[in-house]
Amino acid sequence: MRVAFLGAGTVGAAAIRLLQRWPQVCVTKALVRDLAVPRSLGASPPDLSADPEEVLADADIVVELMGGVKAPTRLMQRAAAAGARLVSANKAALAERWDVWGAWARSGRLGFEAAVMAGTPVVAAVAHTLRGSRPLALHGLLNGTCGYLIERLELGDGFEAALAEAQRLGYAEADPSLDIDGIDAAHKLTVLARLCALPELDWEEVRPAVRGIRGLSPERLAALERRGLRARLVASLWSEAGRWRVAVRPLALPADHPLVTVGRGRNALLYHGDAVGTVLIAGAGAGAEATASAVVADVLEAAAGRPGPQPVELAALPAEVSGASHGASHGEPLEPLEPLEPPATP
Ligand code: HSE
Repeated sequence: MRVAFLGAGTVGAAAIRLLQRWPQVCVTKALVRDLAVPRSLGASPPDLSADPEEVLADADIVVELMGGVKAPTRLMQRAAAAGARLVSANKAALAERWDVWGAWARSGRLGFEAAVMAGTPVVAAVAHTLRGSRPLALHGLLNGTCGYLIERLELGDGFEAALAEAQRLGYAEADPSLDIDGIDAAHKLTVLARLCALPELDWEEVRPAVRGIRGLSPERLAALERRGLRARLVASLWSEAGRWRVAVRPLALPADHPLVTVGRGRNALLYHGDAVGTVLIAGAGAGAEATASAVVADVLEAAAGRPGPQPVELAALPAEVSGASHGASHGEPLEPLEPLEPPATP
């Protein structure tokens, strides 16, 4: 199978190197903006080109790792029209252009495991295994950069230095305000919500319910710690008064909350289903190799002709959970979540 890459940056280069382990696929071409940038593409590198036409010609599978929304959507439309299978890690395009990307997902021609929590398997889990239960609620640590920033602030480091390090490690988005302001976590929450509960959830319904972690400081985190609390940026889907709610915001969680005990700097998904109970999935949520792992898995699935994850067909009924607006299961209520308000401005 001939595989073409749209983008060969940090994640793209790692995926191109990893794919060289698999003889059934061959990355033949990669679209790059700047041919002069040195890249580490392994022993059998693809031909690099700045011309999308040339890269898309004859590809069986097209992998999009460009970032952004408009340009990747346009190029993937061309790839889809030419009959290619599609793979992408682009949570922003999935969240914001569901009118286009949703049709590919529904037809099973799109793989997007890497879009949420990198190579830690949550997309397949929510779209397949957890379908046997009715969803009650989910709460996730879905942004690796914020996880890393909070970890560093808890250790007493300053915000700017920690952010520079997150950028150096390849965790942060090209525009890191997408991470810090909670938008990236909201994109991922939107993707997960469509897979389990609300197939037509509109990005515009999610966007107003998003707050990020600006305003956190080592002093505030130390003060919370003295009260037995830890701040985390939590993305949630839950039901309240007979309707589904979504939100991304920093919360002060008890130190023994599962989203704290998973360990500093990790991404995690805490899922409550009526039959399965409480499920916790945790691991890396960002980084070149961890994300490339999921891209490779999606390419192998596409090469084998297996369909990608599809949104739930019908909207799930909001759960009637007495006494716990944030979700419960089998009499095992989630710890109350105390919103962490931004500091009062003097
Ligand atoms: N900027 C993202 C994060 C990358 O920090 O989680 C992975 O999606």
